[in-house]
Amino acid sequence: MLRIAIFASGKGSNVRAILDAIRDGRIQQAEIVVVISNNSDAGALEIARSHGIPARHLSRRQFDSDSAFDDALLSLLRDMKVTLIVLAGYMKKVSDAIIAAYRNHIINIHPALLPAFGGQGMYGMRVHEAVIASGATESGATVHLVDETYDHGAILLQRKVPVDPADTPASLAAKVLAVEHVLYPEAIRLIAERESASGVHRNGMAAR
Ligand code: GRF
Repeated sequence: MLRIAIFASGKGSNVRAILDAIRDGRIQQAEIVVVISNNSDAGALEIARSHGIPARHLSRRQFDSDSAFDDALLSLLRDMKVTLIVLAGYMKKVSDAIIAAYRNHIINIHPALLPAFGGQGMYGMRVHEAVIASGATESGATVHLVDETYDHGAILLQRKVPVDPADTPASLAAKVLAVEHVLYPEAIRLIAERESASGVHRNGMAAR
């Protein structure tokens, strides 16, 4: 069983999409064990609470040092026996310590066709503004593994959407988000199936 922690800072529509996919059986062999946000007002926390899923506000500001923050986050993840971290609109860079502890077990969704329109500073509406300004005729969403460099890890899944001449950054964002809500559950389903087929946690994740 995949034990998922979702990290989210915003409204949490991807949290809802993943939850729905687990509830209606599109994703089996996975559960969301905690939703963590650096933002106490995040809709993502509210969605978790309303489904009886532990929701935690954990922010760097609550700690004296980066390492104290990392230690708190890591001990929460270990207490919850998390085996996959899913970033869904998490606006803070995940520290190298957490990436090292969960290498190849952290995924992110980016609202463009990486490696195009990614990297530091490319988030939210900025991505869609850049796509439209470039004259690209297609955009989309990318699910990728997270490593120490922004939007850089191996690409797991991608889906395209056409950019129409009449599109604005806002209309493009809405089209891409709708694709994300299908693509992210699909990526998690594939990971869950692969893990259960491979006899579970060969790489030592069971020890977490
Ligand atoms: C999505 O567009 C995702 O690609 C980006 O942040 C947004 C999160 O939206 N990384 P939501 O909070 O899941 O609604």
